[in-house]
Amino acid sequence: MARKFFVGGNWKCNGTAEEVKKIVNTLNEAQVPSQDVVEVVVSPPYVFLPLVKSTLRSDFFVAAQNCWVKKGGAYTGEVSAEMLVNLDIPWVILGHSERRAILNESNEFVGDKVAYALAQGLKVIACVGETLEEREAGSTMDVVAAQTKAIADRVSNWSNVVIAYEPVWAIGTGKVASPAQAQEVHDELRKWLAKNVSADVAATTRIIYGGSVNGGNCKELGGQADVDGFLVGGASLKPEFIDIIKAAE
Ligand code: G3P
Repeated sequence: MARKFFVGGNWKCNGTAEEVKKIVNTLNEAQVPSQDVVEVVVSPPYVFLPLVKSTLRSDFFVAAQNCWVKKGGAYTGEVSAEMLVNLDIPWVILGHSERRAILNESNEFVGDKVAYALAQGLKVIACVGETLEEREAGSTMDVVAAQTKAIADRVSNWSNVVIAYEPVWAIGTGKVASPAQAQEVHDELRKWLAKNVSADVAATTRIIYGGSVNGGNCKELGGQADVDGFLVGGASLKPEFIDIIKAAE
């Protein structure tokens, strides 16, 4: 089964209502390849999810940037998977390196969140990736495998999971992984899935790349055999995001 190209825009903690409306207008007017060719998902901060969902074109989808690890209740400041389902938000990003590093989310915690969100019917963009220190120590694949294993230990149905490989050293730094570096990890990750999950999951799960993707580097990165799309940060707030979506062609 062919893996449909996936382009996600992670707006992180950015934007005002006015700016969000502008971005949505730009997206709504854009000429992009059809839904059969590319799946486009944008992820605004929680407070803008209803606004974006109600104004965004119907062939693009929305994602939350996080959700709580279990059923909602007395967890001040958290948003539950059930609430996202209630608002008809189809996707959630989990395990982003900013949450792992700044909010101390462990591999196990992320794995639990992925399993819970999937069980509620959400689709998940699960992020993995090594720091510069880990890469320089030669442990990239050990780190990425451990992060993926914590998910694999808790998840049996991978059909609603997209893995985002985001090397931490490439995020927001302008230091994009070379196409060869990205392909190498994606290929290893797919082999890891084949060995530890199943050949079918390895062949069908989309592995997308994130980290300083822009209109200039997306075509070559997206042309790699195991790069099935992108999770874009900074450039997803700009009209350039349209060019990145077009890299699917
Ligand atoms: O989730 C996307 C991400 O972390 C990459 O950010 O700004 O380097 O594209 P950026």
